[in-house]
Amino acid sequence: MGNRQYLTRSIDMKFTFHNPTQLIFGAGTISGLGKAVAAYGNKALLVTGGGSVKRNGSFDRAVMSLKEAGVSVAECSGVEPNPRLSTVERGAEIARKEGCDVIVALGGGSTMDAAKVMAAASFYEGDLWDMFPHGQQNRRLPERALPIITVPTLAATGSEMNCGSVITKEESTLKSFVTAPCLYPKVAIVDPELTMSVPTNQTAFGVCDLITHVTESYFNGVDGTPLQDRFAEGVIMTAMEWGPKAVANGNDLEARAQVQWASVVALNGWVQVGTFGPYPVHMIEHVLSAHHDIAHGAGLSIVNPAWMRFAARTRPARFVQFAERIFGISPKHPEDPDAIAEGIDRFEEFLRSIGCPTKLYEAGIGDTLLTRYAEDTVIVAHDAEGRLPGRPAMTKEDIVEVLRSAL
Ligand code: NZQ
Ligand code: ZN
Repeated sequence: MGNRQYLTRSIDMKFTFHNPTQLIFGAGTISGLGKAVAAYGNKALLVTGGGSVKRNGSFDRAVMSLKEAGVSVAECSGVEPNPRLSTVERGAEIARKEGCDVIVALGGGSTMDAAKVMAAASFYEGDLWDMFPHGQQNRRLPERALPIITVPTLAATGSEMNCGSVITKEESTLKSFVTAPCLYPKVAIVDPELTMSVPTNQTAFGVCDLITHVTESYFNGVDGTPLQDRFAEGVIMTAMEWGPKAVANGNDLEARAQVQWASVVALNGWVQVGTFGPYPVHMIEHVLSAHHDIAHGAGLSIVNPAWMRFAARTRPARFVQFAERIFGISPKHPEDPDAIAEGIDRFEEFLRSIGCPTKLYEAGIGDTLLTRYAEDTVIVAHDAEGRLPGRPAMTKEDIVEVLRSAL
């Protein structure tokens, strides 16, 4: 990922694509959870977050469906936002002790991510942190996992239908990621009704997150991907149309459904096929949420516009395309700086209009640790020269510059 030659043309298109997760989408589909799980095991570890699923009734619905299908249930509750490695270890221990043969995640991205690594822990020898890049010599990816079934309750990360997991090791304040084929859920039950209780701010952060998943490949991917460009633009425009409706009225099931479908598509790999783009905005944001425990989507809404202003200098035509196609801005020429600036300003205004922060101080973050953030970013992701992969590849000084511009 990320080291591929950027000047790829369509005639060079070469890729493989495989997403094995079965997707069951629609209001009320949680009632089919038991049947889906029973195909993979008869004792489930049901992983949940801090309690929202108990307050909104989805926990009871999930348990009822599982029991009706003859699946018995052990519980691991209390996965925190920006999930910690120690929580993953605690859940893995419960799964082991209880003899669970299938893992069910009912919650947001944090719950799903933690559950995935709990599933892999059953077969992983040694320290689970070894599967996450954190500056070590030998990284060992997980090769097997218990079957995972995801039931997202928040539209944001797309974790329900991808093979990624993002975990924080609390002692080192490092947040890192793993992607491995064994972490693909067997089934994702995506029921937009479950998202109706998501608070306004988290709804908005989710919209920002899903948009950022496609802007990463759109701005950092190889050249010559016209269909992927249109997919990405379609996701962005759909999220910009329906996201504000879901923010304005959480009970608008149609808006919830459109946003959730967009969030699935945004990171199940389809939009990114053949783009080979790295995720610099995510890598920088993960450091902020590791140090300050802010919501991932809120951190992205701060970093992304600042990063875009920085990156536009090296790839102006792409940012003109964004301005033109997303906001209908007419450029005076293919690299028109005014169109670029207006496109990014309008994007930032959109984020603000739905209630996302776009400056670090709004998240309570000052300038004292900017160098540390940059150092931590490149520990997790770097090229042969120690730079953060992306277009452009960024030195630590570049990362500091971007963050400083968002103070
Ligand atoms: O913990 P509970 O009580 O469930 O409350 C959560 C939490 O406080 C609440 N919530 C979730 N569903 C709800 C609800 N509240 C009311 N009603 C509901 N239906 O929302 C809060 C945030 O939950 P969290 O799971 O942390 O949010 P999100 O889905 O945005 O996940 C963020 C995590 O995913 C990682 C992020 O870095 C972050 O750690 N990511 C994972 C990715 C992946 N696996 O592919 C990709 C992403 O880019 C991202 O990095
Ligand atoms: Zn994200």
